[in-house]
Amino acid sequence: MSSKSISGFSKKSKSEKINWLVAQYLDSSPQAHDLLTTYWHPDAELQQKHDEFIENTLSNFYMPFAIAPNFQINGDIYALPMVIEESSVVAAASYAAKFWMKRGGFSVQVISTTKSGQIHLTYSGQKEALTAYFERVRPALIESIEPLSKSMKKRGGGLLDLQLESRTEDLKDYYLIDATFETKDAMGANFINSCLEQIAAHFSANAIIAPEFENTQIRPQVVMSILSNHVPECLVRAQVSCPLEDLSQEGLSGQEFAEKFVQAIRIAETETRRAVTHNKGIMNGVDAVVLATGNDFRAVEAGVHAYAAQKGHYQSLSHAKIQDGQFIFWLELPLALGTVGGLTKLHPLVQVSMALLGHPDAPQLMRIIAVAGLAQNFAAVRSLVTTGIQKGHMKMHLLNLLNQAEATTTEKEKAAVHFRDHEISNRTVADYLDSLRN
Ligand code: MEV
Repeated sequence: MSSKSISGFSKKSKSEKINWLVAQYLDSSPQAHDLLTTYWHPDAELQQKHDEFIENTLSNFYMPFAIAPNFQINGDIYALPMVIEESSVVAAASYAAKFWMKRGGFSVQVISTTKSGQIHLTYSGQKEALTAYFERVRPALIESIEPLSKSMKKRGGGLLDLQLESRTEDLKDYYLIDATFETKDAMGANFINSCLEQIAAHFSANAIIAPEFENTQIRPQVVMSILSNHVPECLVRAQVSCPLEDLSQEGLSGQEFAEKFVQAIRIAETETRRAVTHNKGIMNGVDAVVLATGNDFRAVEAGVHAYAAQKGHYQSLSHAKIQDGQFIFWLELPLALGTVGGLTKLHPLVQVSMALLGHPDAPQLMRIIAVAGLAQNFAAVRSLVTTGIQKGHMKMHLLNLLNQAEATTTEKEKAAVHFRDHEISNRTVADYLDSLRN
């Protein structure tokens, strides 16, 4: 066995894990060892909390935690917590928030909050026999999750419906049981998966003779049971609007700006190569607040992109139009979020985020996060159709370039003044530092 492989790694202490890793993979570098331990939190209890989120924790990986203030959402003002590494995102969100606060703010509605999961089955007998069997056991299947659903029901949630679907036209012998749920303030992954596994166990254990089909033995095989991250029925819509004349900027009249902006959106609705980048810009805002509030950004990403592709080709999640002298810009997002459970009670900074947002329930967090996406998209498309993206982006990136070149505090201060009216690029920053240093 190579010394780079190991069994029983997870049983080692954190220090043993680091020592082994540094010896086997990092040339026994004392710097690597020190760097990993430098990022340990001095409060051992707090550090242990973080260690226990996952297996084999060695250290912490810092990301900036920032605030984008001045978001007016359905009349109330919020400061949005954002966790993100990309230099221009928070500045762009803050810009858009302020811009729209002066024009009436964001209006948002939750359209629906239904989630689903499926039990995927293989069955090679008569479809009618399986259907008859399913209909007969359906009440017992629903009954079987009563003990699991008690506390969810108390909160107004639970199973909404259970239906058998034949998918044999797409895949031989493939059926599924589709279960829809309301999970209130929980993201609901654990609840949904537990219910599905319970229903699946009951369904196979009671696969019985169906008398109405000449005693056909029903033998469906459960392949798997899992929630779906495709949540088109867990939907929120955010919008901004203002008179065209309130949009004039960067040498463009309001009408000119709005027309260019609407055309940019139509391009993203039509052309996938643009749509993917356009939606990435939306997710810059969405993911940053999703992370800051301890939600599952992979689930959100997967669901959002499936939604963007649901008309048969991948397209823009946001839309815009000019109507009766008004510019109207909106987006619909599927967002399955939780404000209880998961990291929400465990990560101290998530608790700060929740407090900042006034302890939102899940629908309110959906509204806030949809607004973060729309704001981010507005700021990006606005820059694209006016100054170009690099001007703002490089301005925010200047500090990263200076840090990469190990600039001193004095050099940074001088550079900040110099680059107010000079082009920023890797080369110009390197040349400028050379000129200072020589
Ligand atoms: C960069 O992170 C995001 C943008 O590319 C989004 C867009 O093009 O709309 C600026």
